[in-house]
Amino acid sequence: MFKTLIEPFRIKTVEPIRRTTPDERRAALAAAGNNVFLLKAEDVLIDLLTDSGTGAMSAAQWGALLQGDESYAGSRSYFRFEEAVRNITHRKHIIPTHQGRAAERILFGSILKPGDLVPNNTHFDTTRANVEVMGATALDLVIAEGKVPSLIHPFKGNLDLARLERVLSEDGHKVPLVMVTVTNNSGGGQPVSLENIRGISALCKKFDKPLFIDACRFAENAWFIKQREPGQSERTPLEIAQEMFSLAQGATMSAKKDGLANIGGFLALDRDDWAEQCRNLLILTEGFPTYGGLAGYDLEAIAQGLKEVVDEDYLRYRIRVTEYVGEALTKVGVPILLPTGGHAVYLDARAFLPHVPPLEYPGIAIINALYLDGGVRGVEIGTVMFGQKPDGSEAPAAMDLVRLAIPRRVYTQSHMDYVVEAVAHVYAQREKLRGWRMVHRPKALRHFTATFEPMT
Ligand code: F0G
Repeated sequence: MFKTLIEPFRIKTVEPIRRTTPDERRAALAAAGNNVFLLKAEDVLIDLLTDSGTGAMSAAQWGALLQGDESYAGSRSYFRFEEAVRNITHRKHIIPTHQGRAAERILFGSILKPGDLVPNNTHFDTTRANVEVMGATALDLVIAEGKVPSLIHPFKGNLDLARLERVLSEDGHKVPLVMVTVTNNSGGGQPVSLENIRGISALCKKFDKPLFIDACRFAENAWFIKQREPGQSERTPLEIAQEMFSLAQGATMSAKKDGLANIGGFLALDRDDWAEQCRNLLILTEGFPTYGGLAGYDLEAIAQGLKEVVDEDYLRYRIRVTEYVGEALTKVGVPILLPTGGHAVYLDARAFLPHVPPLEYPGIAIINALYLDGGVRGVEIGTVMFGQKPDGSEAPAAMDLVRLAIPRRVYTQSHMDYVVEAVAHVYAQREKLRGWRMVHRPKALRHFTATFEPMT
């Protein structure tokens, strides 16, 4: 009856955010080597660096924290967590980890060897790094449409099945597992269709390879399937998610995203021998298999979060926020990756700044301007993040994007209106923006700690 879609919650606890002056921001960015990762969060007004671990927990989650059982082994909280994860994934072994990359490291550290290949739609930065550190190759096989920011397609995260089949038939002996990332973060938070996951699953079966889902944003992916895939609109997000997982044999998960928690993750898998190797590595570096580097209360928060994240009102609101920001930016002419994804709006930095070549990092130019002008922090997903090859050379990434990731249940519509205004302001000044030179060039995951200076 009414068209205004409201935040499906009211706010019980507030945290002030601090305004800074342009001079303060200039000084803060310079002190951070012109890399917004190195800023103090207090110097940021609206922080869209990541949607990971930055969400607001519900009253029910805070209540669950008090139920945390801190027993070293066999804690009650572990069994609640295991039940919540198993209800969605149906996997035999559920191994808690302190976050997603720990699940990746334990899995890849146990099963990959030098020369192996890991196909995925698109590996996220930590996933790629954890594959490469084992001497294996991370292969990105997203469909061609997924690499063209302006092209509209309902499932731009889909994996190219023909290319996967070719890899499996030509180099199958080097492939210990196949992965698919839902939603496809590096490709714009774009969903993968159920039909595509079924196709990947069938190929994996044909070549006898296990399929693992990088499940960080599984609920957002399920919502897109419900909205966009023929025949899915009557199903609940939970039913859709359960089918997604039923097509795989394992999952890595960062509970900092669709676990609605501030920390945590898990590895879920069926194979007994792999599970044993993974648990051994877990004990060595994370902790006993019933806590995996987490407190009992963290396990409680995740168990509750996994129930809340598949709520339809929540997901409708969640996906509408990115769509709302995307529509407003499109209206003022800002080039964004279309259609808007699940957890973030991605600016197309190459179209935004056509005069700044990829190796002068157009994404950094936009991000730094957005911080200096508006106090808003985003993140580059482009040539800084993905341009460095394992041999140390550098080449432009598939796309240069600026991700404005939206923390879950944290900001209101007026915060988003402010962000749109700030981006539009930077866009209006775009001709004045110049490229950046990387001064400190770390060898791995360089975007976190690199420093920059302006090109003259
Ligand atoms: N896989 C995907 C698709 C991710 O987006 C992330 C994290 C991870 C794995 C690793 O999880 O952070 O818990 O270790 N992405 C965050 C981001 C950091 O900002 O997109 P983690």
